[in-house]
Amino acid sequence: MASEEFSWDKAMEAVRREAAGFDLSGEAGAEAYRLKFLSKKGEVTALFEAFRALSGPEKKAVGQALNALRQEVETRWKEASAGRSTGPGPGGDPSSQGPSEGPDLATLPPPVWGRGSRHPLALTRHLMLDFFGKLGFRWSDGPELVDDWHNFEALHFGADHPARDMQDTFFVSLDPAYLLRTHTSSVQVKEMMKGQLPLRTVSPGRVYRNETVSARSHMQFHQVEGLYIDQDVSFADLKKVLYDFATFLFGPSVQIRFRPSYFPFTEPSAEMDVTCFLCSGTGCGVCKHSGWVEILGCGMVDPQVLENCGIDPDVYSGYAFGIGIERLTMLRHRIPDIRLFYENDLRFVRQFGHAG
Ligand code: PHE
Repeated sequence: MASEEFSWDKAMEAVRREAAGFDLSGEAGAEAYRLKFLSKKGEVTALFEAFRALSGPEKKAVGQALNALRQEVETRWKEASAGRSTGPGPGGDPSSQGPSEGPDLATLPPPVWGRGSRHPLALTRHLMLDFFGKLGFRWSDGPELVDDWHNFEALHFGADHPARDMQDTFFVSLDPAYLLRTHTSSVQVKEMMKGQLPLRTVSPGRVYRNETVSARSHMQFHQVEGLYIDQDVSFADLKKVLYDFATFLFGPSVQIRFRPSYFPFTEPSAEMDVTCFLCSGTGCGVCKHSGWVEILGCGMVDPQVLENCGIDPDVYSGYAFGIGIERLTMLRHRIPDIRLFYENDLRFVRQFGHAG
């Protein structure tokens, strides 16, 4: 064989010309091109194999020229592939990605996320607002940072009133006249001040108390407080609404009882228990063997509170109640630790299913 007849220049030029004239249109064209020139048995690859036998200065010159050729041939193929994968344009086919390309982010389908589930506290809140909403209670909202007057003073907690100790308070250090509300009764003060009577409102929201965090108490929790003010509102009205609420939550066989209690803004005041829904009143660990569990505080609005908010207590009377959403949810679902609500552990949250 006359090796001097082989010319690297000519061989490379032949491949270059052939590649430049090749029809790459369509997926099939590009693939044929890749097989002919760039695959393991392709012509460019074959030249590289022959090149391995070279040595000395020739190797360097041929090597540079070969690299340039490969780049040229590859570029044509890449351009053709990219043209097809930029979208559903003419001849475009996103599935015909070249093997050396990454995924085409423009056409990659998004991951499929499953439906989320509602937080158990949100489920209980919805349930409560739904019940009271059907009785004509409008939902009212207010700020979490309030002044002393809305949280305490208007509600008949005098400056030195010992009942302030019932609700360990986070004050704003720069101005202790402001604090994080300890109950959503502060919203009800705002509603009473509007002077639109009769008033029937429920105030859901987050409240804060400076309590040691434990399985049973937290420095933040949620309440739904209710307020009804009209002429001739009596304790019997309060009992009826709360009895209906208890049967709505725990079924028609539930019984309720009121125990005298104390809140500065209600007179008389009471705490309401329901028969333990786990043991039906026979005694178990949840009700501490008493047969009863406490679910809320309530009472008739103190006439002084009405007066503080510009309502004539000789004409109007009202009742109020306050329910802890965490407590109710813990009782309904037998959740042993209040901290679980705030840890965002999906294994916990997902147990409560999808909300309708
Ligand atoms: N505001 C009271 C509390 O947070 C609850 C309550 C509301 C009690 C209305 C009676 C009437 O402790």
